[in-house]
Amino acid sequence: MSRRKVYVTRRIPKPGLEAIQDVAEVDVWPDELPPPYDVLMDKVVGLDGLLCLLTDRIDSALMDAAGDSLKVISQMAVGYDNIDLMAATERGIPVGHTPGVLTDATADFTWALLMAAARRIVEADRYTREGRWKTWGPMLLLGQDIAGATLGIVGLGRIGQAVAKRAQGFGMRLIYHDIRRWPDAEDSLGIEFREFNNLLKESDFVSIHTWLSEDTYHLFSQEEFQLMKHSAILINSARGPIVDPDALYQALNDGEIAYAAIDVTDPEPIQMDSPLLELDNIIIAPHIASASLQTRNLMATMAAENLIAGLNGEKLPHCANPEVYK
Ligand code: DGY
Repeated sequence: MSRRKVYVTRRIPKPGLEAIQDVAEVDVWPDELPPPYDVLMDKVVGLDGLLCLLTDRIDSALMDAAGDSLKVISQMAVGYDNIDLMAATERGIPVGHTPGVLTDATADFTWALLMAAARRIVEADRYTREGRWKTWGPMLLLGQDIAGATLGIVGLGRIGQAVAKRAQGFGMRLIYHDIRRWPDAEDSLGIEFREFNNLLKESDFVSIHTWLSEDTYHLFSQEEFQLMKHSAILINSARGPIVDPDALYQALNDGEIAYAAIDVTDPEPIQMDSPLLELDNIIIAPHIASASLQTRNLMATMAAENLIAGLNGEKLPHCANPEVYK
């Protein structure tokens, strides 16, 4: 039997790649930047399996270019807003993703952003390196207290709950908004539900953990920033387009909110002429919340498991479109 053909759209950690190489003929895009869409269109022709990343646009035209041989699409990420899931389901293609294994790494990084913003750590480092540290100053680089502050979590899924769990250790008051209630988490974490606008009004810190969808696109725009406290800090480690970047710039520049720390931007990567880059009261990381060695190994392994199951015609252990099996 000829070996199944798999395309991997970037070099991924060894444990995942080697597992796939054991069972299939694997072609890997070698560059640091993602394969351009037209290259991907060529590469997918006649494939059995595609392992992709959140930087690849996987739409119906690409699935059609792959043809009937395509048995599985496996994304090495928990989010899959780059994939046309409905088109995959219509074509009977299961789509794998990697939930769970990156929850702690992402929650840790969210906390790193929160603390760095609250205590202005990036600004402080710049201040020191620029030789501006002349003395201890009673008013120097004053930030915001975390203990006793209210943390508002938007989206209380796995990552939102892991962020809330860490907040308990810091003595924060916890509130959340979501499209559904989480009674067990409300009990175990002592977190209270709020309507969205009330959460915005009450929170000292707002941390975003929702999916990107039509409903959450630009969920944070001018109106929402106007409801927030002038001292509020916004954290986004979910998806960039949940926040309107122009409105964020205005809010930070006009003092509508105090600070932001974001791991995701709209677009990605951020354009170097973005006015956000001129502001001191924002920290911008290059989408690295899950970027620990251990976590990326686990993500690659899980993506490989999904891919191999799909190649073998088995149910994917972590399927984003389980309706495909109905
Ligand atoms: C994801 O998995 O969706 C993150 O954004 C990258 O780890």
